[in-house]
Parts: sequence; structure tokens; C-alpha cells
Amino acid sequence: MTPRLAFLAFLAGPACGLGPLTAPATAADTQGAPAYLDKTKPVDVRVDDLLSRLTPDEKILLVHADSKFTTAAIPRLGIPQRWLSDGPHGVREDIGPHDWRPAGRTDDFSTSMPVGIALAATWNLDLAREYGSVVGQEARARGKAIMLGPAVNIMRTPLCGRNFEYFGEDPFLAARMVVPWIRGIQAEDTAACVKHYALNNQEWERGTIDVEVDERTLREIYLPAFEAAVKEAGVLTVMGAYNRFRGQHACHNDYLINQVLKGEWGFRGLVMSDWSGTHDTRQAALYGLDLEMGTNKPYDQFYLATPFRELLEKGEVPMSVLDDKVRRNLRVMFETKAFDGRPPGSINTAAHQQAARRVAEEAIVLLKNEGGLLPLDPARVRSIAVIGENAVRKHAHQGGSSEIKTPYEVTPLDGITGRVPDVKVTHAMGYRSGAWGTTGLPASPDEETLIARAVEVARQADVAVVVGGLNHDRYLDTEGTDRKDLALPGRQAELIRRVAEANPRTVVVLVSGGAVDVEPWLGKVPAVVQAWYAGMEGGNALAAVLFGDVSPSGKLPATFPRKLADSPAHALGAYPGAHGTVRYEEGLLVGYRWFDAKAIEPLFPFGHGLSYTSFAYSGLKLVEGTKPEGPVLTVQVDVANTGGRAGAEVVQVYVQDVQSTLPRPQKELKGFEKVMLKPGEKATVEIPLGADAFAYYDPAKKGWIAEAGEFRVLVGSSSRDIRQQGTWRLAATRTVKR
Ligand code: BGC
Repeated sequence: MTPRLAFLAFLAGPACGLGPLTAPATAADTQGAPAYLDKTKPVDVRVDDLLSRLTPDEKILLVHADSKFTTAAIPRLGIPQRWLSDGPHGVREDIGPHDWRPAGRTDDFSTSMPVGIALAATWNLDLAREYGSVVGQEARARGKAIMLGPAVNIMRTPLCGRNFEYFGEDPFLAARMVVPWIRGIQAEDTAACVKHYALNNQEWERGTIDVEVDERTLREIYLPAFEAAVKEAGVLTVMGAYNRFRGQHACHNDYLINQVLKGEWGFRGLVMSDWSGTHDTRQAALYGLDLEMGTNKPYDQFYLATPFRELLEKGEVPMSVLDDKVRRNLRVMFETKAFDGRPPGSINTAAHQQAARRVAEEAIVLLKNEGGLLPLDPARVRSIAVIGENAVRKHAHQGGSSEIKTPYEVTPLDGITGRVPDVKVTHAMGYRSGAWGTTGLPASPDEETLIARAVEVARQADVAVVVGGLNHDRYLDTEGTDRKDLALPGRQAELIRRVAEANPRTVVVLVSGGAVDVEPWLGKVPAVVQAWYAGMEGGNALAAVLFGDVSPSGKLPATFPRKLADSPAHALGAYPGAHGTVRYEEGLLVGYRWFDAKAIEPLFPFGHGLSYTSFAYSGLKLVEGTKPEGPVLTVQVDVANTGGRAGAEVVQVYVQDVQSTLPRPQKELKGFEKVMLKPGEKATVEIPLGADAFAYYDPAKKGWIAEAGEFRVLVGSSSRDIRQQGTWRLAATRTVKR
């Protein structure tokens, strides 16, 4: 036998005497329907049965792409072509199949949900579940088995171009939000793909940058959202990141994938590469990659195609490695009903659009509201000047892979005019991003003319609403580039200042994926609203908040600094790295942890967000748990709506370890609950804290330790607005299993 034939015979196994392309006969064949088609059998039994029928060539087909977003079908066994799709803000339009151009279909419109950071700003777990559910139903309607989201990389710097897709700076908030998102989508027979695992916290040199971060920081800040996705939500797929960690690319990283994800956390689904994130066959084979996507080579030359096969053939990689990858791929197919008649799904329904609107409404953060300018009274306002390009610009179709081809997008101007049809609404551009030289829009010949016109319009109106901020152009909120600074691009700052001088009743609405520099004009403007990229219903949601149909209840999922140099990576000169490496020198002190430790006053703190009503906190009780399986402590607090309107408050619980062996951040978010209250209504909010809430990761012990001693429990309306506090003693040190 030639070595190749010997290899094939070996791969095919003793039951397969006819060569590699013939299915091995199994016992089940002789008894009627094969076991893998029997819905009543456990998934692992079905997986093993189907695996036993696959030829080596067929197995190889299942671990790499056959177009930009598919893997090959194997018709003789009824294995369908498997479709993947971006994600995460809805189902992206069809791409390719063999390049990045849109496929040009007319049936690939979908619901455009608000972006990830907007969802995080709702702090509403039910909405996160609903969000996942909408995406899952629409994926089914579009025939996509795996959705490439949610995206949960921590906001380490306000400049990261993809912050808008992620859940902010806090690992606890991100972990809480990701779990219902994934449960929601996977209940719809659609696999989620949590991404980008791990440490893809900047776009600058994203494909090559080597991240140096200490073990404790990795565990406490950058991994928890992924860990919760795996352990609590049972996410079916994980996407590796582009960057490197400890020298190895994250898509085939022995430590991150084999040891932590699959070893410690027991992940049984598949790890796919980011598109073109695979760089080496041996590493891809041995360091945990199960599905290679997007490599810039002919499909049969992908690292996990012919080159992989050659390694198997030479015996350099054992067959069990291929089988493990195939098992993981098949498991995801069975879990998403690939063989059992996946139900058809629904798309672009009124219910989905309403879900998009609810998320957008609850995401809006009222940053400032001096003198109660907001809400505007629709019965008393006779004229409104709506100023700014973002009042009329649509964003859903941009930003990189998360873009959505949506049947409609309500702009802020549409939303306002729709809400108050009898009010005179005049729009003035004020600025044009084309003038920044980064878009295809015609450059403005004269920004001064635009500003002067806006000032004029503002002067003549009862109220001015400037809708500015960023957009998804290069070097702003977009994939592939980071922002260069916090400044509002162009002459927006001057525009806002001059509009506010002309009309003191000026509201600024910021459309962005994170903090912008507001310092130059904040003192002149009574009201500021953070509206994010709010999806197809964004304009309606904004109008509902501006006119008081809805009281704002969003809270910042990230600190807004006064200046860039106040935020940790920048204060330390530890961004974007040099000579191919970025060192996370701030360690654990990401986001508010840094501002607390260095006693820096943020402009708007983590967790901040005003309401049209007011809430009083009282009666804090710390109730120690008695059941071994229950919480160790339950935080009880009374919250009353003391204002004149219905509204929702996010009650936030931070824990402070008074004394600990290893240094710890001053406080860390460990619980929250969003509660809706009518005027005068009071509720007792109960927030359970497990032992985990008191633990830190001890790298020497390779585990989580809750140390005996005193803890302060801080309960408040933001990380810097603590309303009630108490202390509690943990009696004995314990190791915490997560
Ligand atoms: C992005 C991923 C995305 C993939 C497929 C990559 O460039 O980093 O988030 O899912 O492309 O479009």
C-alpha cells in the first residue's frame, strides 16, 4: 500500500473496505433509519453515529468554509449547507458568496436592533433576552444556523472602533447581559457565536498585536463575559479573536482555547476563526480551532483543508483531533435542528420592530437636564430647530460586519416630526461629515455657512435640538480602525456652542458608541442625551423620550472621562502599544476602577443616567443566606418613586473588600436590578449575592477566593451616587467554584 492509501484505509476504519468516499456501514443501517436521524436519541449518540458514517474527505469539509459564510453540504447523508451570518445587531444582508460584495438579493432585509452598547445601557435582562430572540427568529427565517454575535470585548479604551458593538467596560454587566441574549437566540434553534475570544480590545493592528496582560486581569476583567456565555448560557459557538496572546494568535491559542475554554470551562461547542484569523495549520489543528472561516486562499487550500489532511496523512496529527473537531461541528448542527426540520422563523414583523423600539427607549441615557428642560411639553412647544447631520443620517447599514440592510430606519428628524405633527420643525445641517473628508458625501464648501444657518434657525425656534456625535465612518465608530481622539469631528463643538448662545433652550443628542469630548460646550447646554446608534426605531424612541412619553432609564455602561488622558490606558501611555505588543499596564483598573483608585472625577460616571422622576432609597438590609446552595447574602433595599412620573431605576450594588491579601479595586459592580415604579410607588428590591460576588482570582492558587473579613456593600443610582451602604463579614475564607 502507498502511504496515502494506508492513511485512507486507516481513516476509513475496518468497516470501510471500499475506499474513503463510501459511507461506512453501521449496525443502524441494517435496522432501518440511521440513529443520527432519530430525534429521540441523545445528541451525543446522534453525533457519534453520523461521525462514523463520514469519510475523511467529508470530515475535512466540515471544518472549513466553502464560501464566505457557508460550509459545504454533504447531500448523501442529508447534511445541509450550513449558513453563518453577522451579527450581532440583526441578520446582515447576504454577502459573496466568494467575495465581500453584497450578494444583491432583494429578500435579505432584516430588523435593525440598537447596537450592543445601547443594549448594555438598558441594564435590562428581559430586553437582552428579547433581543436574542428576535435575532434568532430572523436568522431562522433567513436560513442562517449560526449568528456571529453577541460581541463582548471589554471597553479598555474609549477609542476602540468597535466599542459600539460591545457591552461596555464592566465584566459583570457584560456577563449578565450576554447570558439572556444567548438563551434568547438559542431558544430559537439558532446558535449564538460569542466573539471575539479574547482580548480584541482595539482595532489598531488588530490582526497582529500581541496582548500582554497578567493572569488575574485576564480572569477578572477580560474573560468573565465569555465564561458566563459558556457556563451559564451554554453558548454553542465561540469566535477566536484576530490578535495574539502570549505570542500565539487567539484563533489557535493553546492556553485560551484548549486549556481555559475547553479544559476548565468544559466548552463542548465549536470554536471558529475570525475571518482570516487563521495563520498556521499545525496550530489550528492542535490549539483548538474547529472551523476555519474567511481565509484568503482557495477553499481547499485553507489551513484546515488540504494542509491539515496532509498532516493527518503523515501521522503528525492524530485522527482523534479531526474527529473531535467534527464532533463539535455536528453537535452544533444537531442542537440547531439541522436534521429535524428547523421551523421557518419570522422576519421584519411588527413585534420585532417593537422590540427594537423598546430597547432603543430604555437605552437612552439622560446625561444632563438642568432646570428640567426635558421633557418638552408637546402642548406648549410651537417650533423646534432640529440641527445636525445625525438628525437625518441613517446608520444601520454601516459600521463593518454588524451592518444591517433594514427595511426602514426612523431618523431623529422623522421621529420628532412624527411625534409632534402640529409643531413647526425646521432642520438645518449645521455640519456635514463629508467635510471631514472621510465619507462619500459631498464635502461642504463652507462650514461657516452651515453653522450660521443653524444658528439662525435655532434663534427663531422655541427649542433647539442638536443631533450630533459620530457615525460609522473610518476612524470613528467602525470596524478596522480606532478613533484618533475624543473630539467631536469637524466644527461640531463650535456649532453647539453657537446654537446654545442663540437659544438657551438647547438639547444636545449624542449619537455615538461611547464617550465624546463635551467639555468645550457642556456648561452652556442645559440638556444632553446619549442616544447611541439606536437601530431602525431609534428616531421614534428618541422622540418618545424628548416629549416625555417615556422617562429615560438608561445608565452608562462605561465611564465618560473629562479628557482622554484621564482614562487608564491613555494615562499610562499603554495604548495602542509599540513594536507589535500592547501591555495592559493598568491591570485590573479598567474603567471606573481606575477613576476610583486615582481619585479622578469622571465627567459622567459608570452607571450614571438621569430620569424625569426621582427615586429615594431607604431601609437597606443585608440578609445572610442560610441554604448552602443559595446566595450568601441578599441585599434588600426599598426604592420609592418620589417624583411625578412613572419611571424605571437601575438599582446598582457594588462590593468593596475592606481588607484583602491581594490588592483589589475600590469597588466592583456585583448586582443590579431594574425596577419600574409609578409615581408614589415603592418596592423592595432584592439582589442576591453569591460567594462569587466577594471573590477575586488568585493566580497562585489558580482559583477564585472569597476571603474572610469585612465587606462594604454600596447601593446606588450610579457608581458615584451611592445612596445606602452597609457592612457585612464573611466568616470564613472559601474557594469559589464558578
Ligand atoms: C469581524 C467579525 C465578523 C467577521 C465576519 C470580521 O472582520 O471581526 O466580527 O463576524 O468579520 O464578517
